[in-house]
Amino acid sequence: MRVMTNSLVAGMLLGLSAASAMAQEESVGQLEYTASCATCHGPEGKGNGTFAAFLNVEMPDLTQLAKNNGGIFPVNRVYGVIDGREEVAAHGSRYMTIWGSRYSAEMIQKLDPFGPTNKETIERMVRGRILELVFYLASIQE
Ligand code: HEC
Repeated sequence: MRVMTNSLVAGMLLGLSAASAMAQEESVGQLEYTASCATCHGPEGKGNGTFAAFLNVEMPDLTQLAKNNGGIFPVNRVYGVIDGREEVAAHGSRYMTIWGSRYSAEMIQKLDPFGPTNKETIERMVRGRILELVFYLASIQE
């Protein structure tokens, strides 16, 4: 009985540590990345997403953004690529991005089915999403 209790406790502890390890892995930024970017850029940003095979351009390796920029992660450029200030042909035009309205306060407001929601709230939410994504990309630099 004692052995069983011990292994039960050990099992629970193992389960707990596995759960907390998972919680650490899945940051908000990573979830955003998986939902909006991984289809093309691949699960680790290496450019091997399933959709990449249908594109006739060379996929950039998103883990090399800092290395390709003299060792400094290009925060502004990456932020701009996501919020649409810097257009990337494969991402679609500024008002018709491949990821829909998720990172555009302007588009969310236009599409808001519940009528005009507080502009500032939407802007803050969108900024948060983009920043989480930028932080995540910064964290996977090699
Ligand atoms: C439809 C496929 C597709 C999706 C989805 C996609 N991208 Fe891209 N992305 C590309 C392609 C293709 C390029 C390279 C375009 C070029 O070189 O002209 C690119 C370029 C980039 C670049 C510039 C890389 C460099 O070296 O300058 C960044 C940063 C980037 N994507 C981030 C993202 C992020 C963040 C997301 C998710 C919010 C995302 N992409 C979603 C296809 C995609």
